[in-house]
Amino acid sequence: MEFVRLDGERLTLVFALETGGEADLVYLGARLPGDEVLAMLAAATARGRHESQPDVPPVPGLLPEGKAGWSGTPAVRLVDHDNPLAGEVATDFRVSRWDADESEIWIEWEDERLGVAVKLWWRIRSGEIVRVACDVVNAGKNNFTLTDHPSLVLPIPRRFTGLTTFAGRWAGEMRETHRTLTPDGFAARSGTGKPGFGGGNWLVLDNPATGEVLGAHLAWSGDYATRIECDTQGQGDGRAVLQMALGGGTVGFSLPAGTDLAGAEAAFALAPDRTALGQQFHAYLRAQVLPARAAWGPRKVHLNSWEALGFNLSESALMRLADDAASLGIERFVLDDGWFGGRRDDRSSLGDWSVSPVVFPNGLGPLIARVHDLGMDFGLWVEPEMVSPDSDLYRQHPDWCLHTPGRERPTMRGQLALDMAREDVREYLFSRLDALLRENAVAYLKWDHNRDLFPSAPRQTEGFYAVLDALRAAHPQVEIESCSSGGGRVDFGVLKRTHRVWPSDNNDAIERLRIIPAWSQFLPLEVLGSHVGPSPNPITGRRLSMDFRAKVAVFGHMGVEADPARMSEKERECLADHIALYKQWRGVLHEGQLHRLAHPDPNVTGMMVTHEGRALALAAQTAFSPVFDAAPVRLAGLDPQARYRVTLPEPWPPRARHYLANPDQWRQGLVLSGTALMGQGLALPLTHPETAWLIALEKIA
Ligand code: GLA
Repeated sequence: MEFVRLDGERLTLVFALETGGEADLVYLGARLPGDEVLAMLAAATARGRHESQPDVPPVPGLLPEGKAGWSGTPAVRLVDHDNPLAGEVATDFRVSRWDADESEIWIEWEDERLGVAVKLWWRIRSGEIVRVACDVVNAGKNNFTLTDHPSLVLPIPRRFTGLTTFAGRWAGEMRETHRTLTPDGFAARSGTGKPGFGGGNWLVLDNPATGEVLGAHLAWSGDYATRIECDTQGQGDGRAVLQMALGGGTVGFSLPAGTDLAGAEAAFALAPDRTALGQQFHAYLRAQVLPARAAWGPRKVHLNSWEALGFNLSESALMRLADDAASLGIERFVLDDGWFGGRRDDRSSLGDWSVSPVVFPNGLGPLIARVHDLGMDFGLWVEPEMVSPDSDLYRQHPDWCLHTPGRERPTMRGQLALDMAREDVREYLFSRLDALLRENAVAYLKWDHNRDLFPSAPRQTEGFYAVLDALRAAHPQVEIESCSSGGGRVDFGVLKRTHRVWPSDNNDAIERLRIIPAWSQFLPLEVLGSHVGPSPNPITGRRLSMDFRAKVAVFGHMGVEADPARMSEKERECLADHIALYKQWRGVLHEGQLHRLAHPDPNVTGMMVTHEGRALALAAQTAFSPVFDAAPVRLAGLDPQARYRVTLPEPWPPRARHYLANPDQWRQGLVLSGTALMGQGLALPLTHPETAWLIALEKIA
């Protein structure tokens, strides 16, 4: 047995490896002293054999298999492609070699008889994030199907007994469930061809005694299968095993003789609490995942035409909308659905990616010129992976969509999905999108995906990545948003190739006060589109004041998705003021560290971002408070010894402003220590529903 340790800034991983045998993780936790004796560490956690266990008790380790009696799901399940009825092939993988340095290890297992090898990488990056990936190589003579493609296999340290997972639906993303890990474990799969509205491939394990957390994510934009299996029968060593894999659909990954399959990465991190965990994921995304940051510039304020005009598009209406947008301080005008082919509603024309001569008799040129004259840049909506049965593309190529030959082709939102594994499909899409970007000055694409994938298509995501990668290489200056009916495809795989995501179609500010904090446990605010929608909200029907909608939208990548012509003069003024505030504070919001603010009233949501001595907080009340004088808002993430000037950026919320004790003093600013701000907090009027305050802090030198 040999031991290898990897160290991050505050983290150590210790692996135990035996050539011809198994590989296991024998330590995952706080950084160990340099002279820790790894063999003793392993001995301290080893288990003796007990009753009712195989004579050589199985260790699930990093590549669990059934061969020695472990009862869980093997990480690598192979079906002989030419003899599928024989079921899964019995495997016997043994460690054949490994190599490591202080932050990286790769381990290879081989099943000599099958000629199949598994290669696993673990890397510590950005100080604390552990990235894991796994390739499966078929050097043998048989053709196999790999049922799910494993990424992360993690024997869970026993101190983690709590689990938080996420589920969701359209317009209601990322609903959190917390449970104690019980013997039945946990299993989730997407099956819709995308991660889905639950961002289902995120999870957080916790140690309830200390608050320590382990957050894990599969960076993959297609189907996934996640499972935690507990050692209920006691055959193993008592540890539960977490597996995150690509797949989970009804068709596996084909692995013919002589080929190899590269998988997707999973990432996990350890942190003392959930705020710190979020900050680690944010830092990692900013530094290592998102396309090179240098090129971005500040996140421009958007006006999106969808909830302003819907499908009622005309050149004159859009020009008028652009004029109104510019007068609010908008910096980017995004033309949503309805500009192409014969698309006048959501029943036709997906696939026909040329400008509609009916809506734009002179092409997009005049509108884009107007947008530029007004000092904005121009963005465009596309949904490339789809085709409407009523489209020229479908009439020409009825075989290009995902379908089961000889069966019906059920639609969703009136549309079918193109088969992205086909080269001709990818070439067509690239050439249409490339032409659009060459012929028009488009600075931004909103890339949508509004149909689930059925029948199941395991190679679809690679095809999607390939088109996106080719387009980005040809047009590196274009920013791209990933949208999938809102937040249906939000993951580090897509964020490696895009600049932001659309977290939800639901722009209702009260819903957003749940949805944005939920996503921001893993994603920083600058990648979360955050728009001021109309009132009443088209999805929930709720009416909310402009002041409330605008304050909530500041905490994200701000935009407007409503028609300014349908707002009152006062509302437009209020919105313009908040857009100006966003511009003033986006440097902090988009580069700083996010903290959640706990408040005794569950209907008060608080968030705060600190950056280089400045900070902006949001405290928002959604219900009628049970008490008149709500408890003070306690801030977070400040230097306890430093002093800060605290102001409440105006405009103030219309009703609550009358309950402020000393308005003039708040205007001049109060000077308080970090200790006082974090310990006692600020008594703000938060009695009435739809009240939100922004709190600004500047550290005094
Ligand atoms: C999806 C998106 C919306 C909008 C519509 C247009 O639902 O999530 O934001 O772009 O498509 O059809």
